[in-house]
Amino acid sequence: MKIQLELNGDPHYVDIEPGESLLSLVRRLGAWSVRSGCDVGDCGSCTVLLNGRPVRSCITFAAKAQGGSVTTVEALGTPQALHPLQEAFLEAGAVQCGYCTPGMVLVAYDLLTRVDDPSADHVLRAIAGNLCRCTGYRKIVEAVRLAARRKAEGRWR
Ligand code: FES
Ligand code: FES
Repeated sequence: MKIQLELNGDPHYVDIEPGESLLSLVRRLGAWSVRSGCDVGDCGSCTVLLNGRPVRSCITFAAKAQGGSVTTVEALGTPQALHPLQEAFLEAGAVQCGYCTPGMVLVAYDLLTRVDDPSADHVLRAIAGNLCRCTGYRKIVEAVRLAARRKAEGRWR
């Protein structure tokens, strides 16, 4: 079957396989930031925003994106012009191997669109479904709160 969706603002009309995951589809369409970790919905590394809210793309059928919009970190910043949230992750030392980072950034982005000044507990609750094997989470929490301060200062886009 064919579905129509927007991926990072670009329209697509694509064939999907029966039972194909959204993870498979977005990677086929070139969104290589979206990672496969566990492939069973446990780790969060495959997180994308579907119609503005985080979903685990490995356990979301591609067909669910019909008529919708999907956002990955490719839409936030580029290596030459990072989004302030991505800059905050780097500045706070919240990126080590980086495998979890695209999913973490998207969950944090979603949180900061809804909450202006999240507490550390609030951030921890928001990222509870995203596993990081490297950082111990403290620096990720610091990064999200740093990004919140930058947003309050108007340094956000
Ligand atoms: S790869 Fe999707 S939750 Fe782990
Ligand atoms: S930075 Fe390595 S898994 Fe999170």
